Amino acid sequence: MKVTIYGSGYVGLVTGACLAEVGNQVLCVDIDQDKIARLNRGEIPIYEPGLEDMVADNVQSGRLAFTTDAAEGVRHGLFQFIAVGTPPDEDGSADLRHVLAVARTVAEHMGEYRIVVTKSTVPVGTSDKVQEAMAGTLQARNAQIDFDVVSNPEFLKEGAAVDDFMKPDRIIVGTDNPRTGELMRALYGPFNRNHDRVMVMDIRSAELTKYAANAMLATKISFMNELANLAEALDADIEHVRQGIGSDPRIGYHFIYPGCGYGGSCFPKDVKALERTARQVGFKAQLLTAVEDVNERQKERLFQKIHSHFQGDLKGRTIALWGLAFKPNTDDMREASSRMLMESLWAAGARVRAHDPVAMEECAHIYGQRDDLVLCDHHEQTLEGADVLAIVTEWNVFRSPDFELIRKHLKEPAIFDGRNLYEPKHMEDMGFAYYAIGRGR
Ligand code: UGA
Repeated sequence: MKVTIYGSGYVGLVTGACLAEVGNQVLCVDIDQDKIARLNRGEIPIYEPGLEDMVADNVQSGRLAFTTDAAEGVRHGLFQFIAVGTPPDEDGSADLRHVLAVARTVAEHMGEYRIVVTKSTVPVGTSDKVQEAMAGTLQARNAQIDFDVVSNPEFLKEGAAVDDFMKPDRIIVGTDNPRTGELMRALYGPFNRNHDRVMVMDIRSAELTKYAANAMLATKISFMNELANLAEALDADIEHVRQGIGSDPRIGYHFIYPGCGYGGSCFPKDVKALERTARQVGFKAQLLTAVEDVNERQKERLFQKIHSHFQGDLKGRTIALWGLAFKPNTDDMREASSRMLMESLWAAGARVRAHDPVAMEECAHIYGQRDDLVLCDHHEQTLEGADVLAIVTEWNVFRSPDFELIRKHLKEPAIFDGRNLYEPKHMEDMGFAYYAIGRGR
């Protein structure tokens, strides 16, 4: 089948590469000429395991191509995927300008029936706006051409996106036209492992499903973080509690890891957006507000612990920091807990020596050159001259470090672990002051 994808960002690229991988002819359109030129040379603008090879293979086999020519894109695909960005504007709502611009472009150039599929995460009701934008443009052209609008939200996790796309839990298709539902089913047929993963439903339910999934996951995390803080106050160990409740299959082990808060481009944005959508229809989403509040507070936890360890005097201290990305296997630092921690430390007069296996460039890009930030090539180098160590991302290389070396370098043997990587008893036996989340201190 022929597929066009607008937007060669994270979602667009993964979707394009994976649809090409199973044999479709995919054309990716982006307005960024430089990006398209790089992609045509096989250079991937993001870090995502497995993506680079998949793009290169499919470009080479002629199933995947990149262009800046939108008209060519409209001619190419029966399926026209919109995967452009929806950055939050000042009031936190998704900015639909790019989505609607693509819709108008498709309507502007289409000569025959097209299926316009919204993949970007967009508020409930956006498909109606896409429909209106297209109808308006067609009317202005005096053209009577049929089209359908589909909501097909993505559920990819950064760092595991290729795998998630190739082996999805579900494929949500929102459409009012049963025939379009069948065409979407056919497109996604190759991804049905063992049983049918495609769920066809009405458009608004599909749009809401995306937000509901992320809000539910964020709620699980905030719930656990709240309990972790309570466990600290009660002198209980949240890790035992986590295992105790996770063993109930109705609760499950996934997404109940307490820590220094969730970050990334999705949870913070989507919880806020859903809260806002609720407000717009006169509904007070109290639970969502609490989920967000708890997360904001949780991102301050490590700083608070460091601050009280030093009795409020952080001036001139140096903190070694392991991890900058909002989670492992990505270089993404959007809403990362590391940022709030570093910014609080700087405001308190401390310096940071940081390392992340892949997010160093991103960090340099965000913060530029500053005296109170040293980016080290190796995580062990951060320890040199540091007072204490803080950990905010659970990269595998941090799981079993050389504790002897840590103790040798740190001025004080204290570790502030925002991801509960080590056993408190073990750490205590080795002579560390170990501050984790919900585990004693
Ligand atoms: C999330 C969802 O998991 C995907 O299903 C969804 O498609 C995606 O958003 C999206 O809407 O695009 P992602 O943001 O890539 O994916 O990352 P997650 O693996 O979900 O992690 C989010 C944050 O939660 C991280 O900061 C992580 O450290 C934190 N987290 C996760 C916890 O603090 N505890 C947990 O138990 C799990």
